[in-house]
Amino acid sequence: MGLLKKIRINSVILVMTFLLQGCIMFGQNFAYNSFVPGELWKDNKGTHINAHGGGILFKNDTYFWFGEHKGSTNNAQVGVKVYSSKDLYNWKDEGVALSVSKDPDSEITAGSVMERPKVVFNEKTGKYVMWFHLELKGQGYEAARTGVAVSEHVTGPYQYLKSFRPNAGLWPENFKEDWRQPKPGLDSLRWHSDPWHEALKKGYFVRRDFEKGQMARDMTVFVDDDGTAYHIHSSEENQTLHISELTDDYLDFTGKYVRVQPDGQNEAPAIFKYQDTYYMITSDLTGWRPNAARSFKADSVLGPWKPLGNPVRGTEEDKKRTFSSQSTFILPVQGKNGAFIFMADRWRPEDPIDGRYIWLPVHFEEGKPVLKWYDEWDLDFFDQKENE
Ligand code: GAL
Repeated sequence: MGLLKKIRINSVILVMTFLLQGCIMFGQNFAYNSFVPGELWKDNKGTHINAHGGGILFKNDTYFWFGEHKGSTNNAQVGVKVYSSKDLYNWKDEGVALSVSKDPDSEITAGSVMERPKVVFNEKTGKYVMWFHLELKGQGYEAARTGVAVSEHVTGPYQYLKSFRPNAGLWPENFKEDWRQPKPGLDSLRWHSDPWHEALKKGYFVRRDFEKGQMARDMTVFVDDDGTAYHIHSSEENQTLHISELTDDYLDFTGKYVRVQPDGQNEAPAIFKYQDTYYMITSDLTGWRPNAARSFKADSVLGPWKPLGNPVRGTEEDKKRTFSSQSTFILPVQGKNGAFIFMADRWRPEDPIDGRYIWLPVHFEEGKPVLKWYDEWDLDFFDQKENE
């Protein structure tokens, strides 16, 4: 065989190998180049992405999407999954970042509930820190704890450190002196009655949980430009948000915290910062059933937060149900000024693994973040916006 022919055959083999690898990489013979909210979203293996209640960290020129692995029930049987992507459309399965424990005595034993994991990178320690909402096995949603894990590598494995109810023995910064005194007789109030709402606003649950620490359920973590990180969670029986400062290494709470919207029933907090203003989108409190989102803004993460109303623009149904989804994170798109993606979950409690992802671009109207439905869209949206 002539040398030229040999080279040609070798080149053909090489190209075919590349193509084959490409097919295997994407488990299907295509790559995504748009977002299609609510549809199945396949990873590089051709499997629907399993990262519910997720959040994204951008590091090493790559996006890392962390989220709850779900099976046929909501209990954690696997742990927190992580996927990577360069373009936000195509995601590679990077395995399990934080694994449930086989030890039945572990707080994160299989069968516990691990929700809404969020990972941040600590510049000072060079470590990746994961916070998540933890419910202990067999206790429903009674434990209401926050859990923390750490890793030297972005994709893990993360080492579980501890879980707790935060801010034990500490009053919020914005808590009146008089509210700190015991107020007997409130335990007999009928839940959701007017006097109960009144007592709640004046710190009934904060006082009740003062010794053992404040309840921590739906949560997120936000790192400000100065490197200070904040843990934002639904507390006080999900009736009030708490925003707490984290320590320099992000592994603990400093003890400085505020109440936000007492008696506001906000869950699923997602925060972002744009032009020196902080914005937050949350949901109402109806479990897995979708409800109307809320939005807020503030000049400081610790507030005060000003309500901006329902961010959804669209049909009444869209507004009432936030496109049948619940917020989880707001992602700043790298390299595009003012480009943010609202990430939400369309839960399927009867088959949690089939939960869908709703990603939509954030618009700004009169200084308010606004969400509109798109059947399909891509990142060019943000360039067109800039040219408007
Ligand atoms: C939702 C919450 C989810 C999950 C669920 C359990 O309100 O946002 O993360 O905790 O309740 O019912």
